[in-house]
Amino acid sequence: METKILDGKKLAQQMQADMKNRVDRLREQGKIPGLTVILVGEDKASQVYVRNKEKQANTVGIKSEVIRLPESIGEQELLDQIELLNRDETVHGILVQLPLPKHIDEQKVLRTIHYSKDVDGFHPMNMGNFLLGNVSTLPCTPYGIMKLLEAYNISIEGKNALIIGRSNIVGKPMALMLMQKNATITIAHSRTENLKELAQQADILVAAIGRGHMITGEFIKPGAVVVDVGMNRSAEGKLIGDVDTDSVKGIASFVTPVPGGVGPMTITMLLDQTINKVETD
Ligand code: GUN
Repeated sequence: METKILDGKKLAQQMQADMKNRVDRLREQGKIPGLTVILVGEDKASQVYVRNKEKQANTVGIKSEVIRLPESIGEQELLDQIELLNRDETVHGILVQLPLPKHIDEQKVLRTIHYSKDVDGFHPMNMGNFLLGNVSTLPCTPYGIMKLLEAYNISIEGKNALIIGRSNIVGKPMALMLMQKNATITIAHSRTENLKELAQQADILVAAIGRGHMITGEFIKPGAVVVDVGMNRSAEGKLIGDVDTDSVKGIASFVTPVPGGVGPMTITMLLDQTINKVETD
C-alpha cells in the first residue's frame, strides 16, 4: 500500500494565509489581535517552540510579545504578572509555556489566566465546556490534528482510535475529540500491558508518548492512519517523532511526518483561537 503524507506544514500555510485576511479585516476596524507568551526558565525545547509561535504570530499580523522570566521566579510573582495581562485590554490571548519549574503549581497558574484570554484551552472552564460538548477554546495540538484529518477527508465515525498518552495537553483531549466525532476510543499509556495488540487493531493511531521511534511497522494495522505527536531528539541531536516513519511506510495509509506534521498545526490553531477571541469580542 502506498502511504500518503499528512502534510501539516502545507495545511498550516494555507490556513495562515486566510488568517492574514482575517487580521487585516480586524485591523481595518482598529482592532489589533494581541498575544502574550510567558516563558519561565531556560528549557531548550520550550525556547524553540516560543520563538516559532512569536515568529508565526507576527507573520499573520498578530501583535505578539514574549515575557521571559527566570527559573527562580516565585509563584506569586508569576501570578501577579498574569493578573496584569488579564487587565490589559491590548492583550487578547495569554499563553504560559509548559512545563513550568517544579516549585510552581501549574494548575494554579492555568486557572489564573482569565478563561476569556486562555488561547490554549487549558483553563478548567474551557476544559469543562469542551468536555460537555459546548463551544469552547480547545487544546491546540489535538485541535490541529482534527483539522489535518478533516483536510484529508479521513473518516472517523465508527473507527477504532488508539491514543497512546494520557496528558491533559494531548492524550485526554485527543480522545475526547475523536469520541465526539463518533470514533471508538482506547487510551493506552506507560502501564498498558498489551500495547502492540491494541495498536494492531487501531484504524487511527495517535502516538503522544515521548520516546523516539518507539512505534514501528509491526504495531500498525494495514491501512491505518498514523499521527505522530512526538518531538524527541535522537542521539545525533536530530528532531524525531515517536513513530519510525520509514518502517510504517507501505503499511499505513497515512502518516504525519516529524517535523512538518502536527507541530505546524498546533501553532496554527493557537493563532486561529487568538484571532477568534478578537472576532467574537
Ligand atoms: N508545551 C507543550 N505544548 C504546549 C502547548 O500547546 N501549550 C503550552 N502552553 N505549553 C505547551
